[in-house]
Amino acid sequence: MTSTAPQLALSGGTRMPQIALGTWPLGDEEVERAVLTAIEVGYRHVDTAENYQNEPGVGRAVAACGLPREDLFVTTKLNAHWQGVAEAAEGLQHSLKRLGLDYVDLLLLHWPNPARDRYVHGWQGLIALREKGLARAIGVSNFKPKHLQRVIDATGVTPEVNQIERHPYLIRRSSVSFHREHGIVTEGWSPLGRGNGLFEDSVVTSIADEVGRTPSQVLLRWAVQEGHAVAVKSKRRERQLENLEVFDFALTPTQLAAIDELDTGDHNAVDSDVFGH
Ligand SMILES: NC(=O)c1ccc[n+]([C@@H]2O[C@H](COP(=O)([O-])OP(=O)(O)OC[C@H]3O[C@@H](n4cnc5c(N)ncnc54)[C@H](OP(=O)(O)O)[C@@H]3O)[C@@H](O)[C@H]2O)c1
Repeated sequence: MTSTAPQLALSGGTRMPQIALGTWPLGDEEVERAVLTAIEVGYRHVDTAENYQNEPGVGRAVAACGLPREDLFVTTKLNAHWQGVAEAAEGLQHSLKRLGLDYVDLLLLHWPNPARDRYVHGWQGLIALREKGLARAIGVSNFKPKHLQRVIDATGVTPEVNQIERHPYLIRRSSVSFHREHGIVTEGWSPLGRGNGLFEDSVVTSIADEVGRTPSQVLLRWAVQEGHAVAVKSKRRERQLENLEVFDFALTPTQLAAIDELDTGDHNAVDSDVFGH
């Protein structure tokens, strides 16, 4: 059995498969197996990062999977250490070498790290890398609207994607509406909530019963039906397929609204004014 995720159009003209296989916290050997099974069941987007220390394993899977490079979409992210024009170029060279690739499809600044006050320089670095064709699309991760506004004001160039922690307990309405206004795709990380009880939440389980799907599929359908991307991690083939099979059913407006009511507010998010690497 296989499945396919649709592609979202990014503002720079590239197309990004709406569901990425998340690879944190898989180690280098484990990630290779996970990416290979994910590609077999139909994933075409893999989400890694310098910080995950598993880029070589992702690269080995990409090389071994038998698909042409252009059929796959690989995202990686630079640590704050590389927030500068020359620095970002060097940081990406290291990532490309570890991945065994000539380019990445999407390059993100992993965290804004505002205490360093370098993220605008980092963004200028990514703009230059997109111009050179080393990153087909560029974006950020864990940026609040004020961080996004600052890079847009400073450079006139809007990130194509912002990857943020997002699930029904953490809907991030102000971020999502800022992204919509500026044509930025919202990509949710931890879309299943990573053990925070969402799978057992009675709103989620009763909707799962109504539609005859699993809680995981309801959570992912809620995100993709509203046009967002997700990075969802599973190392198990059967769950990888389950998480991809969310494009053949729909939630009703009432079901979507019931899930929207689960939000507990942004104060539960990892605070990217403080945390970062
Ligand atoms: N940009 C950032 O700062 C940032 C931060 C954190 C994460 N991320 C990215 O986002 C990805 C996803 O986030 P995440 O790993 O925190 O959370 P997640 O994808 O919401 O949840 C992953 C967990 O759920 C389990 N799982 C997956 N599918 C399942 C299913 N169908 N039924 C039951 N359990 C299931 C997985 O276990 P098994 O593997 O055992 O199936 C794993 O323990 C990461 O892998 C990473 O690529 C980005």
